[in-house]
Amino acid sequence: MTRLKSLIRDTRRTLEGIQAFGVTMLPAGETGKARRIDPADRLDSVRRQALACEACRLSKTRHSVVFGEGPLDAELVFVGEGPGRDEDAQGRPFVGAAGTLLTKIIQAMGLRRESVYITNVVKCRPPMNRPPEPDEIAACHGYLEAQLAAIRPKVICALGRTAAVALLKVESPMSQLRGRTFQWGEIPVVVTFHPAYLLRNPSAKALVWQDMQRLLGILKP
Ligand code: URA
Repeated sequence: MTRLKSLIRDTRRTLEGIQAFGVTMLPAGETGKARRIDPADRLDSVRRQALACEACRLSKTRHSVVFGEGPLDAELVFVGEGPGRDEDAQGRPFVGAAGTLLTKIIQAMGLRRESVYITNVVKCRPPMNRPPEPDEIAACHGYLEAQLAAIRPKVICALGRTAAVALLKVESPMSQLRGRTFQWGEIPVVVTFHPAYLLRNPSAKALVWQDMQRLLGILKP
């Protein structure tokens, strides 16, 4: 490889690395104004990094990296725990039984699934659907932060305690996480039960509906 080619490769890697961790502006050069990195480019480069990621042990057993899906201008982002078997097989988030329920919740809110962004705390399936370990969550956190920083939704919905703890860095039980609005930077965060929990505990659906009403109050004041 020529010196120029390796310089281009190294510069590209450096820029993709800083984009992945939420840097949106490059310092002004001699010619003046700082340049803003286009959010679509930023998300695309983060996705490419995630697809090749081997930062934790989950990369050894995954079939797909389930990065997330939805429009870049989504006003609402749902964050789940991690892909399950169906998601790992299809490379898309929330496509199994919990996903069907999440889609119903979104529709009951008067929204279309295609209009919201859906992702997870970890992008690779934990074996046997166990909860992700703290070091796996930490290894993946830059991707989640970069997604949220690129999309900048009006509201984030954390689905379940794992997502809430990962986003908010608070080790509280669900009873203290539900019913109030947290902040991820300037973005409000509403915590509700994970749809998989609802499949096991259908009586909690009424509580989720309360949470979604509060969330809609923020989304469409
Ligand atoms: N559960 C999750 O937390 N995420 C998915 O994508 C599917 C099931």
